[in-house]
Formats: sequence, structure tokens, C-alpha cells
Amino acid sequence: MKSPEALILTKKRYLTDDLEKDSEMSINSQLKIAIDGPAGSGKSTVAREVAARLNIAYIDTGAMYRAITLKLLRRRCDPVDHGRVEELLKQTVLEVLPGGRVIMDGEDVTAAIRAPEVNAAVSRVAELPAVRRKMVQQQQEIAAASAGIVMEGRDIASTVMPQAPHKFYLDASLPVRAQRRSQEQQDKGLPLSYENTFHEIKERDRIDSERSHSPLAITPGTAVIDTTSLTIEEVVQLILQRVNRQKD
Ligand code: DC
Repeated sequence: MKSPEALILTKKRYLTDDLEKDSEMSINSQLKIAIDGPAGSGKSTVAREVAARLNIAYIDTGAMYRAITLKLLRRRCDPVDHGRVEELLKQTVLEVLPGGRVIMDGEDVTAAIRAPEVNAAVSRVAELPAVRRKMVQQQQEIAAASAGIVMEGRDIASTVMPQAPHKFYLDASLPVRAQRRSQEQQDKGLPLSYENTFHEIKERDRIDSERSHSPLAITPGTAVIDTTSLTIEEVVQLILQRVNRQKD
């Protein structure tokens, strides 16, 4: 089993990846971009694209909460059993790679963390203070070690990178978000009806915004983008324009 040094390896990997990038590195050296928003707001696709255009790292923090949820499900650990959760957290080595792959205890769980069982359970796990502490600490270490990064999630602007110079909150109407998510699931061959997706997202919104630790919220200084009737490219352009204006 791997040791917790894997976290350091992750940090080194970020540094190395960033250092290997060409001259854009110096231009982008202060690029810390926080993107928050609810499920189906388009933030993962947009964040990945913005990072690619700016040639900087991209981190999907939801994937980290999903990975630990998968572990609890596999170990049949009830989230209310806080002692067991803490124990499993201590034994878990999570690596999130700049390309988006997620490695847990040496296993590539990138696909497994998108399973319907994980979708259904993740909000309950993400509200546990011990889980949040570990995830936020690791995310802050990754952000500090990166020359430039787009990090997306629910609490990036409020908690993980409150000092980030560029903060965005993406939103969209609930029906549109549910439509996007059920389409995504169908494209992956995991048919989930629109109605089920609608209710699942509504419930996740409620848990994510009402939890006591770092709830989903819009922090001051954040640009809100309603993506309901925008294409991915339009949202990417809005973000890049604002980042460029703020850099000047
Ligand atoms: O973005 P997503 O659907 O993959 O997120 C999965 C869950 O993790 C979601 O219920 C909210 C939670 N999450 C969180 O609490 N904080 C983050 N920074 C990212 C995700």
C-alpha cells in the first residue's frame, strides 16, 4: 500500500507539469481561478476548457469527494459512523492528476466515481466535517504548489482559495441542469430519467447549500454567470475576457 508521501508526489507532479510548460508560464504565473456552482451548471466542462486555453492545471474537487464516497460505499461504512469514517480517511491516499484522472490507494477510480450510487450518496459524505478538513487541506496544498490553476467545486472561492484573484459562480435553472445531467448519463450508457435526475439534483442542491461547513454560496467579489441559455464556448469566453481584463 502506498504511503501518504503520495501527496507530496502529487505536489511535485504539479510543479513539474507547470514548470515544463513554455513561456506562457511566466504570463500565467499568478493565475488562480476559482469556479463554483451547483451540479449541472457546466462548471466542469468550462473549467477544463478555460485551463486548457490558459495552459494551466485543472482540478475537479468534486471528484475527490466522490472518491472518498466510493471508498465508504465499498467498505459499507455508514457516514453517521464518524469514528470509522475518520479511520478510513486516514488510510486513504488520494491523487488527483492535472489531466483529470483520480487515483485512490493506487487504483484508477476515474470512471467508478461517476456511478449512480456515488451520485446518490456523495452530498451526505461531503457534509462531514472530517471529510471536508482532509479534502480542503489537500486542495490548498495543490493550489499552493501550482503556478497556475483552475479549481472548481462548491467552496473554492469561500474556503479553499479565498485569496484567488479570479472567482466565478456558474448557475443555471434547475430544469436545464437536470436536462444536461440526464443527457450526460445517457451518453455514458447509464440511462437515468429526467424526473429522477431532477429530484436528485434538487436534493443535492439542498444538502450542499444547507450544510453547516462551507455550504455552496456566492462569496463577495465573485462574478455570477447564468449559463441557462449560453453555450460552453460563450461561458468560456466570458471568463477569459474577465480574467484578461483583471490581469491588465
Ligand atoms: O461537482 P460534483 O457533482 O462532482 O460534486 C459532488 C459532490 O461533492 C456534491 O454533492 C458537492 C460536493 N462538493 C463539495 O461539497 N465541495 C466541493 N468543493 C466540491 C464538491
